[in-house]
Amino acid sequence: MSQETEAFINHLIAQMTPEEKIGQLNQYSADPELAPDLLRQGKVGSLFNASGALTGHGFSDSGNAEISNHFQKIALESRLKIPLILGRDVIHGFRTVFPIPLAQAAAFNPELASEAASVTAREATANGIKWTFAPMLDIARDPRWGRVAEGNGEDPFLGAQMAAAVVKGFQGDRFSAPDKLVACAKHYVGYGAAEGGRDYENGEISEPTLRDVYLPPFRAAIQAGAGTVMSAFIDLNGIPATADRRLLTEVLRGEWGFEGFVVSDWESIKELIAHGVAEDEAHAGLLALKAGLDMDMVSGVYHNTLGESLRQGKISPEILDEAVRRILRIKHRAGLFEHPFTDTTRISRDILTPEARALARTAARQSMVLLKNNHNLLPLQGFRRILIAGNFIHARGELFGTWTPDGRSEDVTPLDEALRHTTPKGVELWFADSPDLAQNLTHYVDAVVLLIGEHPARSGENCNVSDLSLPPGQAEFVEAVAGLGKPLTVVIFAGRPLAITRQISQADAVLYGWHPGIEGAAALGELLFGTESPSGRLPITFPRATGQVPIYYNRKNSGRPIRNEGLFRTRYLDLPPVPLFPFGFGLGYTQFEYANLKLSHETLRGTLEVSAEVTNTGARPGVEVPQLYVRDLVGSLTRPVRELKGFQRVLLQPGETQRVRFTLQEADLAFTRSDGTFGVEPGGFHVWIAPDSQRGLQGEFRL
Ligand code: BGC
Repeated sequence: MSQETEAFINHLIAQMTPEEKIGQLNQYSADPELAPDLLRQGKVGSLFNASGALTGHGFSDSGNAEISNHFQKIALESRLKIPLILGRDVIHGFRTVFPIPLAQAAAFNPELASEAASVTAREATANGIKWTFAPMLDIARDPRWGRVAEGNGEDPFLGAQMAAAVVKGFQGDRFSAPDKLVACAKHYVGYGAAEGGRDYENGEISEPTLRDVYLPPFRAAIQAGAGTVMSAFIDLNGIPATADRRLLTEVLRGEWGFEGFVVSDWESIKELIAHGVAEDEAHAGLLALKAGLDMDMVSGVYHNTLGESLRQGKISPEILDEAVRRILRIKHRAGLFEHPFTDTTRISRDILTPEARALARTAARQSMVLLKNNHNLLPLQGFRRILIAGNFIHARGELFGTWTPDGRSEDVTPLDEALRHTTPKGVELWFADSPDLAQNLTHYVDAVVLLIGEHPARSGENCNVSDLSLPPGQAEFVEAVAGLGKPLTVVIFAGRPLAITRQISQADAVLYGWHPGIEGAAALGELLFGTESPSGRLPITFPRATGQVPIYYNRKNSGRPIRNEGLFRTRYLDLPPVPLFPFGFGLGYTQFEYANLKLSHETLRGTLEVSAEVTNTGARPGVEVPQLYVRDLVGSLTRPVRELKGFQRVLLQPGETQRVRFTLQEADLAFTRSDGTFGVEPGGFHVWIAPDSQRGLQGEFRL
């Protein structure tokens, strides 16, 4: 906490009327109908969707920054001249659209995600935005939930690494820098546990699971300095997150020392009435404010009710001051009092630069996951005529994925064109956009590549599905061309793991492309034709069928553990008990072997080094992602069968061997114990260095 900031905001708060204080607690979505007088009277603390909201509505590029400045100017006409903080959902890129967050997690490269967030911050701030509602840090174990696309998948360790990296990318060392944004860790917390994968649905998470699985990414974001947090829509364990004092105040502030502010999700304060914990708006406002919820997104409940609650003594002046203080603190730290306006000339320099596009290409390339590659069909070599078919062959904006209000289709090279650019000389590409045509043409070509998957409009907020199969019209392509004797590659674009068991058995090669962003088409071309190699790994388990979810690698063993045989074991009668592909899985264009696992000690005292040799045994250079897992064999509470504790990306030349080293600390083994405390328990552990969460070299040590 800087003394200068505290002195400044204390001085300001001392001059504020109760109305002005309550004013700071309101956020509205900017639209042309928003009454400017509200701003002039100091009754608005934040607007969002000001800049960019009108993109595509006849405004010029630089219009975005001008619109932001326009609103800011009116706010500065208020008595105390307190600037607005202007927000927006800048989730995985602004004009330069990066792969969806789930895909970025698949790169197992937090540094790259950080660079992407940094580019995003530059573009967004050039458009007058100072606050993004990202990163989304919700652990998701159920891909029916549409928002699985927006997060980092199922693992708390990977999630925490990504959280810290992305916060740093958005905010830099100081988010007052003109090209940096205030980050918002959302949705706090447990949102991904919505029952049945139905967005906004209730959920139940036990305290140990909440603390050891769902909270760590948020904690990492706070430790990395995230300025704000957004509460989740969910009713978790009977308490809507927006009114959960224990989580918003005791854990977030008390345990973690968070000094920024908490914003509600869209109307989630008013929704406390529908949840059935508040009688009316006034009651909802009291519950939220007392829980530690500082800013009301859109619902107007604070605006409508807090004045009266204050007069009636239902809230103390101190609690109001505290909420105001947190908001002003972030505004001051963001430099808004000194530099409230955006330099409108930045748009011409900072948007869609060649460097940004190159980074988006790298991110797309590293995020794609090769799931199958029989007889090394990929990269495609030695084929003279290749048929490219599927619903995605002309895709442009369809490659963006969810939450890309500022991406523009015209910035994307369509897939067919991008593939033509990357096709080696002498290779003819044919195209077919219907299964019938694809079937006919297959007879005349040497190989077939299908580009299929799910439209971005089918993933993201409230885009849940009850069936994880490919959407209608997609599997038909595979049915039409499979079995005709031509080598078949299937590329799947999607915002979630789909249940592609049948397509995996039909195709010779399958590449999971996610929604790869603005450079996705070019990146795909590089991978298909082998100028680059795939290196992505799954950040989430792939089920065989919808009925297997929730399915995730860090489950508990049970008393009758999963095995392929045996009667009274946890199982389905109609499906193998294991997923289609485990967490951490992914192939490349070469092979790797793991050997000679070594532990520096038999007992962990302080630190333990775990290392293994990884050799590239194939004929091409390639990136392998060795992963460190542990299992705590006996605990006061049952422990996961494996937990990720480290990973690396290692580039190896053909024949090259490298010893990869990980260091385990005692603290890495801590968990929420049966008495509710967090710490380690002495005993035996298994440890693996592994290519994915199901395989690997196993060792053991004691603590
Ligand atoms: C979403 C948030 C988003 C907010 C503002 C809500 O519906 O849940 O993730 O940041 O809208 O657009």
